[in-house]
Amino acid sequence: MNLKIVRTIVELRQEIADYRLSKPVNPSVGFVPTMGFLHEGHASLIRQSSASNGLTVLSIFVNPTQFGPGEDLDKYPRDEQRDLRIAADSGADLVFMPSVQEMYPNRRLTTVTVSEVTDRLCGASRPGHFDGVALVVAKLLNIVQPDRAYFGLKDAQQIAVIASMVQDLNIPVEIVPCPIVREPDGLALSSRNVYLEPEERKQALILSQSLSQAAEWIHEGLTSSQLVQRLKDEINRSPLADIDYVDILKYPDLGPIEADKQLSEVDNRVLIAVAVRFGKTRLIDNRLLNPAEVGAQLCFAK
Ligand code: PAJ
Repeated sequence: MNLKIVRTIVELRQEIADYRLSKPVNPSVGFVPTMGFLHEGHASLIRQSSASNGLTVLSIFVNPTQFGPGEDLDKYPRDEQRDLRIAADSGADLVFMPSVQEMYPNRRLTTVTVSEVTDRLCGASRPGHFDGVALVVAKLLNIVQPDRAYFGLKDAQQIAVIASMVQDLNIPVEIVPCPIVREPDGLALSSRNVYLEPEERKQALILSQSLSQAAEWIHEGLTSSQLVQRLKDEINRSPLADIDYVDILKYPDLGPIEADKQLSEVDNRVLIAVAVRFGKTRLIDNRLLNPAEVGAQLCFAK
């Protein structure tokens, strides 16, 4: 199927209904929501959807409600033509590119707030951000009505928020978490990496490097507060790094870990998450571990 572009909800629903009515061999619909300026991280989600579903819908929408005052909404990078090439090459079938007016036409009276899992990390440092994410994802899931929706563990807290929302609101969709895609040197891919000056880009490597080290330090018997301190010291060795947060929490409930307990004795899945500013650019990265298991591997399962 060739890539089809639609900009209205009516057209999108018609395309998906036509697909389902055509009684295809694989009737399932996969959905990949994005804000565009696509990179290999987004492409990996599209490929994963395309491998498991008969129809893959990609949305590209820079959602204003998830940006706070003074954040980068106006200068968020955009490149429609390049996005469409990447979408087609990765196996998307239908691209939904609505206007702000199409998504938010009226005075809006409904908010979607997910509590607890939003108390820490980006939920704390970007007030209102996850209300905007939950609102737009709830709308998109209702518009597309996919069987599966694909999200990157790069935004591990976002997955926890959306998984809670989907469960609480009985939205009939499977949330599929996908691994973080990185540059060859370890930097997690992000649309915002284009903002980095060359020296900031070099020093930004401290995020992935220190997270890899943290996975090893756990075996030295550190507590979570000791590990947080060590990570902060390590990141602060980069003069341009300005730490927003470094935190270690249970995953996916994002509850605290006893500060004096050795991490190697914690049975839960554990998320080590960092947010660091380099100049005007705020980067996030994380590692998901289960310290009680041999080695420190990715261990999220729905
Ligand atoms: P955006 O930042 O464009 O990301 C879209 C999806 O791509 C998210 O699920 C994100 O986790 C995933 N992603 C980004 N970088 C990745 C990487 N390096 N490896 C793997 N996956 C990666 O996240 C959003 O948009 C928005 O909040 C959205 C969910 C679309 C709601 O507006």
